[in-house]
Amino acid sequence: MGYFVTFEGVEGCGKTTQIRLLSKLLSSRGLNTILTREPGGCPIADKIRTILLDADNRALSPLAELMLYGAARAQHVSEVIAPALNARNIVLCDRFSDATVAYQSFGRGLDRTVIDTLNLHACQGVTPDLTVLVDCDPNVGLERARRRIDATSGPREERFELEELSFHTRVRTGYMQLAAEEPGRFIVVDGANKIDVISAEISRLVIDRIPETLHAVC
Ligand code: TMP
Repeated sequence: MGYFVTFEGVEGCGKTTQIRLLSKLLSSRGLNTILTREPGGCPIADKIRTILLDADNRALSPLAELMLYGAARAQHVSEVIAPALNARNIVLCDRFSDATVAYQSFGRGLDRTVIDTLNLHACQGVTPDLTVLVDCDPNVGLERARRRIDATSGPREERFELEELSFHTRVRTGYMQLAAEEPGRFIVVDGANKIDVISAEISRLVIDRIPETLHAVC
């Protein structure tokens, strides 16, 4: 088996920058690394992503939203993540099952047991070996995320950025609770630090945990 690392955090926390830097570093060291993301990561899940993030879909019900995340994840796991892990790759995924607990349970208020059951089925036995939580004040992150959306051409993926600050504060609380529930799986880094400082910390902590057998090609 390979090694599965997920990155999580509130909007604009900087996790996408960090996961890309880590991917480059691991690849430059000769490690077989696959970088993917949720929602999305394969053509069918990317189509579901469009529905989920389109600001015109504000009427999407919390339960329908949850099911769409589950559907996208089921497809992504079977088509991309599980085969890549079976082929002994290091898989880096920008958001995964913890995001559904943080956003749909803590954020939207859906029952955690329903979400855990959905994740159990959608993940098909795949669980992250390590999760990097880039912690960030939602005030700071939201401003950053909204600036990025304004500067990007193409579809405005902003359905969540339009949520109130209180929603994002609950999401952050959810992530911190998940990290406290599983301290062995989570690494929490301070997203307020400079990009290179955060990146150096993540690289050191992740490389230390990657099994020796996967370093063999270095
Ligand atoms: P991104 O901004 O990291 O690309 O993520 C897209 C949005 O989807 C983000 O606002 C968080 C949200 N999301 C959920 O609400 N539940 C989930 O399970 C996932 C994977 C993402």
